[in-house]
Amino acid sequence: MSKRPTNNINKVALATGAAKRVGACIARHLHSNGFDLIIHYNHSHSAATELANELNTIRPDSAQIVKADLNLMSEVETLASTAVSLWGRLDLLVNNASSFYPTPVESSTQQQWDELINSNVRAAYFLSSALSKQLKRHQGCIINMIDIHAQRGLPGHPIYSIAKAGLQMMTLSLAKDLAPEVRVNGVSPGAILWPEADLSEEEKQAILDKTLLKRTGSEQDLAEAVYYLSQAEYITGQIIAVDGGKSLYSH
Ligand SMILES: NC(=O)c1ccc[n+]([C@@H]2O[C@H](COP(=O)([O-])OP(=O)(O)OC[C@H]3O[C@@H](n4cnc5c(N)ncnc54)[C@H](OP(=O)(O)O)[C@@H]3O)[C@@H](O)[C@H]2O)c1
Repeated sequence: MSKRPTNNINKVALATGAAKRVGACIARHLHSNGFDLIIHYNHSHSAATELANELNTIRPDSAQIVKADLNLMSEVETLASTAVSLWGRLDLLVNNASSFYPTPVESSTQQQWDELINSNVRAAYFLSSALSKQLKRHQGCIINMIDIHAQRGLPGHPIYSIAKAGLQMMTLSLAKDLAPEVRVNGVSPGAILWPEADLSEEEKQAILDKTLLKRTGSEQDLAEAVYYLSQAEYITGQIIAVDGGKSLYSH
């Protein structure tokens, strides 16, 4: 991380959890459309470094990495202040970082509650709060990566589902409270990338059977929705499902 406290002329986006997978695709797509990128990561230092090198090779001085454990409020606060100091501006916050694992209701723990709630919604809220002044200055926007299971809980994952439902309501609430200067929207993925923990082939097929388009989506589908919302100047308080029709499935 190097400081370049100039008045950057490019728009600057902070994407959380952006070293790999969906977040990295969002970062690449925003970058290819002219944003400079602050790539937040926690454990994935080498992937974040490689991604920043890739983007800086395409356009020098256009990507920085910042580490923070979003479970820790002190690190959330430092991430917000560092993000603003790097280029002296911020136009877009993408709350993408998330932890995800099952928490059977009979055996779930407070530690799981804290991890899932903190990474999926508490950090997103306090980052948005801390960055709202800067986003207002640039008529910026916030885009939250939610989940179609914010509407109908994912069996076996009650805490994750509660966290994403909170993120959904946060999208609607902050759209009201930060208007008219800051737009706040969400993208709700369905089956895009299988979780890093293994799912059996039968489990994957059962999910695809309930998806109208009968296939998974791609990270690029999500990145394009994020970029669209970043440019859609008359849209706020909306959540786009990018789910191949899964949320319409009747059972
Ligand atoms: N993949 C899908 O099909 C799908 C479906 C529904 C919803 N979504 C949502 O779309 C977004 C992206 O999905 P994804 O599958 O790419 O996510 P992911 O790989 O599960 O997680 C993204 C990143 O979040 C970061 N993260 C987790 N806990 C953190 C913590 N305590 N502090 C800081 N960073 C933390 C991790 O960063 P490090 O690796 O650096 O630690 C991780 O690489 C997520 O919000 C997810 O819930 C995805």
